[in-house]
Amino acid sequence: MSRFAKNASSVNAELRTSVRGRPVRLYDAAYHLIKNGGKRLRPHLVMTCAEMFGGTRRGAIHAAAAIEMIHNFTLVHDDIMDNDATRHGVRTVHKKFGESVAILAGDVLFSKAYAKVLRSPVDDATKTALVSTMADACVDICEGQIMDIDMASKRAFPTNAQYITMINKKTAVLFESACVMGALSAGARKSDVANVASFGRNMGIAFQITDDIIGTMGDARATKKPVGNDLREGKKSLPILLALQRTRGAQARTIRSCFGNRRAGAAALGRAVSAMKESGAEDAARAVASRYASKAQGALAAYKSAPARDLLGLLQDVVDRRM
Ligand code: IPE
Ligand code: IPE
Ligand code: MG
Ligand code: MG
Repeated sequence: MSRFAKNASSVNAELRTSVRGRPVRLYDAAYHLIKNGGKRLRPHLVMTCAEMFGGTRRGAIHAAAAIEMIHNFTLVHDDIMDNDATRHGVRTVHKKFGESVAILAGDVLFSKAYAKVLRSPVDDATKTALVSTMADACVDICEGQIMDIDMASKRAFPTNAQYITMINKKTAVLFESACVMGALSAGARKSDVANVASFGRNMGIAFQITDDIIGTMGDARATKKPVGNDLREGKKSLPILLALQRTRGAQARTIRSCFGNRRAGAAALGRAVSAMKESGAEDAARAVASRYASKAQGALAAYKSAPARDLLGLLQDVVDRRM
């Protein structure tokens, strides 16, 4: 079994027993997305960064499961905010269980994540550092998510740099925290923690840009994500910003007619996606993602161990991702 599969299987076992209780409906809702998919990328970062500095899997599993619970809490609430009906090819939590239950399902995952991280077999100072890292990440995610919503609701387009600031907070910070928590749980030195933090942050930015490319121009059947939704919801993601910067005349009008237009139908969305593809926005966005991936790679330049090589392989997979 690959390291990735092994870590995913340990974290799944941990989640299966942790996300349980009564009333059953609350926990069914909290476990719904976890059960139906998820790459388990972030827990893999926790466990691999722990291994890099001599930590054990047992030492990092609590932090790994906690990070995945936080991630799923954000997904449940994000789908409400983004008005998305499906994820992993199944109905989203609020569509299946109703909005009130979905809000509570997110809240229970959030709370249980803290309970989980507090069970890490580390000294009190390390435990405090772990909890504080996770709390700071959650604050950043809220700040990033509101920036995302505000950008969508305003008429003005953000600059590319404002988009990067937004995705840094809503996505990259959790990747960074996953790496930091892994290293902390292994008792890594400050300079090592800083290096994996930089790796995680830059990888997270590359990841979100790639995700936004897939979300706007990918094949819906392969991605199991409702392609065109970001355009329809008026999300100002990098591929859309670049497409609008690179088009004029009829092509630009085709894209704009769907942009933020909740009544845009499948045919119109299809034409808009084609116009975005023709603009070369995908390659341009992939080039930006590559720049961040190179920074991530640079942060690990001093490490030659198997877990470090494993992280670099994962980074490559993230930017090569087409679905
Ligand atoms: C989805 O993240 C949310 C984003 C930050 C884009 P993932 O693509 O890692 O979601 P799962 O865990 O595989 O469902
Ligand atoms: C996800 O952002 C970020 C968080 C959940 C915090 P998106 O809204 O872009 O991700 P998807 O496309 O729903 O997975
Ligand atoms: Mg969102
Ligand atoms: Mg979303």
